Amino acid sequence: MAHDADKLAGLARVAADPMNFSNSRALQAKAHRLIPGGAHTYAKGDDQYPQQAPGFIVRGKGCHVWDLDGHEYIEYGMGLRAVTLGHAFDPVVEAAHKQMQLGTNFGRPAKIEVDLAEATLKILDGVDMVKFAKNGSDVTTAAVTLSRAHTGRDLVAICGDHPFFSVDDWFIGTTELNAGIPEAISRMTLKFRYNDLADLRQLFDQHPNQIACVLLEPETSVPPAPNYLAQLKQLCEDRGAVLVFDETITGFRWHLAGGQGFHGVVPHLSTFGKALGNGFAIAALVGKREIMRLGGLDHDQPRVFLLSTTHGAETHALAAALEIIRIYRESHVVEFLWKQGERLRALLDRSIAENHLQDFFALAGRPCNLIFLTRDQDRQRSQTYRTLFMQELIRRGVIGPSFVVSFSHSDADIDRTAEAVHGALVVYRKAIDEGIEKYLEGRPIRPVYRKFN
Ligand SMILES: Cc1ncc(COP(=O)(O)O)c(C=O)c1O
Repeated sequence: MAHDADKLAGLARVAADPMNFSNSRALQAKAHRLIPGGAHTYAKGDDQYPQQAPGFIVRGKGCHVWDLDGHEYIEYGMGLRAVTLGHAFDPVVEAAHKQMQLGTNFGRPAKIEVDLAEATLKILDGVDMVKFAKNGSDVTTAAVTLSRAHTGRDLVAICGDHPFFSVDDWFIGTTELNAGIPEAISRMTLKFRYNDLADLRQLFDQHPNQIACVLLEPETSVPPAPNYLAQLKQLCEDRGAVLVFDETITGFRWHLAGGQGFHGVVPHLSTFGKALGNGFAIAALVGKREIMRLGGLDHDQPRVFLLSTTHGAETHALAAALEIIRIYRESHVVEFLWKQGERLRALLDRSIAENHLQDFFALAGRPCNLIFLTRDQDRQRSQTYRTLFMQELIRRGVIGPSFVVSFSHSDADIDRTAEAVHGALVVYRKAIDEGIEKYLEGRPIRPVYRKFN
C-alpha cells in the first residue's frame, strides 16, 4: 500500500492523542441506571465495544457519524446493517416526511400498503404475497407460525451455524441467554449444520412427519456449496416441510432479491428487513399464496393470526421503502456495494500481508458484507484481539465492528479506512510480538450469548 510519509505521520499523531469521551462516560452511567444494559439492542451495548469507544452517537450523515464528545468517524455495518444507502439519506427522509404530513396510521388500510406490496413482489420471482411488519424478528416468527399451521407439525429446524433469527422464545431458547424461557419451548427447535445435507436428512429421519419448517440464512460469510440450496429445497419438499430463507441481511445486499435472487433458489417463505427501510422500521414476510393465505379471509382452514399490529403498516416507513426500492433500481446500489467492498478488501489484504498477519487477521464474506476474523498469538479465535483492533480503529476515526459498506462509502472513505486499518494492524502486529497487555486499554469484548455477566 502506498503510504506517504505525511499520511503516516498524521495517523501516528491521531493514534497518540488520547481521545476524550467524558460526555459519553457521564451519559453511559445514567443510561445503565435507566435502561437495562444501557441500550436497546445488545449488539450496540457497551460489552460489544472496547472501553475506549464512543458511548453515544448524536448525528449521522452518509457513512459519517459524530459522537457525544464531538469526534467524527467513518462507520461500517451502519444500524446493524440496516442503513445500506446512508444515514439521513435525503430522498428517503423526504419521502418519509412527505408521507408523515398525510397521516401515519388510519382506521382502515392506507393506499400505500398496496403500492409497496406490488413494488416488493415485482422484485421477487415466484413469490405471490407479502405482509409487512416492523422488525425482522416478528416476520421470522410469523414464518414459523404459518409453517406450523400449514403442516400441522410442531418442530422447527434452524441452521445452528447462523447467529440470529428472532428475539422470540423459539429461537432465544436455543441460546445460552435463555433465562425465562421454558425448556419445553426450547426443545421444539432443532439445529442442523450448514452445507451438510446429511445432517438435516438425519433430523428428518429422527423426527418423522414432525418438522414444520427448515429455517436458515441462504448465505452468511460461508457460501453455499454447489447445489446445496436447491437440494435443501428438494429435501424439504420430499419430507413435507416448509423451506424458509431469512433474508434480513442478504436482502438488498447480495442482490435486490437477496440470496434467493443471487442463487436462483426460491424458498416457500422468506423474510426481509433491515435494508428495506434504510433505518426506518419495516420488515416483510413473503411467500407462496398457498401458505400465506392462511393469514387471510378467503379460505376455510383454521385461521392464522398473522402479523396484525397497530404500527405494522406505519405509512412513512412504507413510503421510505418505496423510495428505497426506486433508488436501488435507478442507481444500481447492489453493484456499488460489491464494488466498494472489493476495493476495501484489496487494500486491506495488502495491509495484512505487509504486517505479516495472514495467520492472525483475515477478512471473510462477500464484498457486500465483509467481516473480519481475529486470532491471538496461538492462532485461536480471539475476542481480545478483536477488541484491540476495534480500539485502534476508533482512535483513527473508524467505527468498524465489521467492514459492511453502504451506498455512501465513497472511494475517499474507503481509502481513508484502509489507512486507519493499516495503522491498527501495525499495533496488532506489535501486540502479537510483545503481548497484548501492553496495548489493550480495558476489558475485552464479550459474546452476547452468555449466561452470566
Ligand atoms: C438474520 C437476521 N434475522 C432476523 C433478525 C431480527 O431482526 P430485528 O432485529 O429487526 O428483529 C436479525 C437482526 O439482526 C438478523 O440478522
